Amino acid sequence: MNDTTDDVDLGRRKVVLAGLGGAAAAILAACGRGGGANDTTAAAQTGPTTTTGAAPASTTPTTAATATTATTGTTATTATTTSLAPTPTCADDDDVTPAQTEGPYFKPNSPERTNIRADAGGTKLLLTGTVVTTACKPVARALVDFWQADNGGNYDNSGFLFRGHQFTDAQGRYSLETVVPGLYPGRTRHIHVKVQAPGGRILTSQLYFPGEARNASDGIYNKELEVTIRDTADGRSAAYGFVLDA
Ligand SMILES: [Fe+2]
Repeated sequence: MNDTTDDVDLGRRKVVLAGLGGAAAAILAACGRGGGANDTTAAAQTGPTTTTGAAPASTTPTTAATATTATTGTTATTATTTSLAPTPTCADDDDVTPAQTEGPYFKPNSPERTNIRADAGGTKLLLTGTVVTTACKPVARALVDFWQADNGGNYDNSGFLFRGHQFTDAQGRYSLETVVPGLYPGRTRHIHVKVQAPGGRILTSQLYFPGEARNASDGIYNKELEVTIRDTADGRSAAYGFVLDA
């Protein structure tokens, strides 16, 4: 598996809305070729409420995505989720999480679940963190959709192993049970993700691991997207805090 040729760094800063008027069909077409990293139409692809398998190109993002913003907690404190502090911290309040290409292996309609490893082998990884706004407010019911390679560096393109979406809780927290993704030619170790505040634009990005030998040679790698990580009794624990321009 190698999506190197499809990957183009689409920018590290705030994603621009300009040029996002393309039809969902166009986005679907682009999906297999490293389509846009951030757009409203992609929300329909993610289709977290649709499980029929039909591409919900004309549906709105989610009912949940429009329901909770005004009613969620608005405490300005950074919601800590684990013993690891998500990075970047809210002190970087003007730094929106950088967008990156989705690559060629995104699939819409991933199942809603927090455990995407099932019984697959590999080093267990617990990835936790928060979704906050640039004003440091937790984003409740934010959609967080992960996909990654398995321990052997392969994507499940026929099923949904190592694919799944979830919604943040009232404190903007998410939690993912997975394994440390395997390496495949041309890329450093990474996890793909889409994050969407209720009713907001989708942020498409990738998370990276510190200390990886291939980080330096991967043209897509961005240090700002590194998780914090530590060893645990049964694997590894990582954290990352997403900051949305919402
Ligand atoms: Fe990838």
